[in-house]
Amino acid sequence: MIGQAWTRRHVLATDDWSRAEIEMVLEQTDVMLPVLTDPNRTVRRTPALRGRTVVLFFAEASTRTRVSFELAAKALSADVVNVTTAGSSVEKGESLFDTVRTLEALGGEILVMRHAASGAAQFVADRVTSAVINAGDGWHAHPTQGLLDAFTLRTQLGDLAGKRIVILGDVLHSRVARSDIHTLVPLGARITLSGPPTLVPVAWRCGQLPEGVVYEPDADRALAGADAVIALRLQRERQESGLLPSLREYARAWGLSEERVALMRQGAPVLHPGPMNEGIEIAASVAHGSRSLIERQVTNGVAVRMAVLWLLASSPVTA
Ligand code: CP
Repeated sequence: MIGQAWTRRHVLATDDWSRAEIEMVLEQTDVMLPVLTDPNRTVRRTPALRGRTVVLFFAEASTRTRVSFELAAKALSADVVNVTTAGSSVEKGESLFDTVRTLEALGGEILVMRHAASGAAQFVADRVTSAVINAGDGWHAHPTQGLLDAFTLRTQLGDLAGKRIVILGDVLHSRVARSDIHTLVPLGARITLSGPPTLVPVAWRCGQLPEGVVYEPDADRALAGADAVIALRLQRERQESGLLPSLREYARAWGLSEERVALMRQGAPVLHPGPMNEGIEIAASVAHGSRSLIERQVTNGVAVRMAVLWLLASSPVTA
C-alpha cells in the first residue's frame, strides 16, 4: 500500500478510517522504525520534514505522547515548538480558538494537540488551515495510541484476524479503549471488554456494542484463552464520584494479576498505554514481567508518530 496517496488533512480519530488507511500507517511505521533502531545507523534522522514547523500544544498532562511526538518530529528534521497551558497566555484567559490561530500565524504547519475536552481537536481542525493531529481529547479519541497498540500487537501476534484481545478496566472514561476498538476491529481482531458495569458505557453494557466487540464483566472469564490483554489506567478520581466501592475491591475483581495473566493463551502479551497505577489495575510483577510489551509500546510510539507526521506532510492536501 506504500505509494498510495494519503488524502486526509487531519488525524482526529480512526473511527471513520478504512482498513487501507490503517495499513498505510502501519506499513510506513515499518519504514520509520529502522531510523530509530538500526544499530548500523549513526544518524537517527531523515530530512523528510526539513523546513516544516510542528507545534506541540498540550493543554493536559502527558509524558509518552508529548515526548514521542517531539522525538518523531525531530527525527524527521522538522522544527519543533512546545506550548503547554502553564506559562502560555491560556493562563491569562486566552481562548482555544485565539491560541491555535496565534500558533498558526507564528508558522505552525502541523499542530499536535492534547486537550481535556472531547471534541477539542475537531473544533480546532474546523477553524485552522494547519494539519491537526489529536494527541488525546477527553474521553473521545487517542488515534496514535490505537495505531501504536495495533503495530505492537501485530509485531508480536502477526496477522490480527480472529485474534481475541481483552481490553480490561475503566472503559467508560478511556479514549484509548475507543481508539483501540476503532483500529483493531478493522484489522480483524475481536475485542472483549471487561470491567465494572459502572465503568462501561450504558449502551455497551446493555448489549448495543460496536461490531466485533463483546462485554464480559467477569475478568477471569474474559481473559480465559485470550490472545492479548490491554489493561487500562483506572482514572482514580472516578472512585470519588461513587462509581467504585473501593480501590482494593477493584484491584481484586479487575486487577491484572499474575494468576489472571496465566488464564490467557500461553505467551499472550500484556499491554498498557501508561501511565500505570501499579498494584491497582496491574500488578507490578505483570507490568515488568516477561509478557509485558509496555516499554515496546513506548518505543513503537515514536515510529508510529513519525509515520503519521510524514503521511500528513506529504499529503496533497497539506504539502
Ligand atoms: N498513553 C499516553 O497517552 O500517555 P501520556 O499521557 O503519558 O502521553
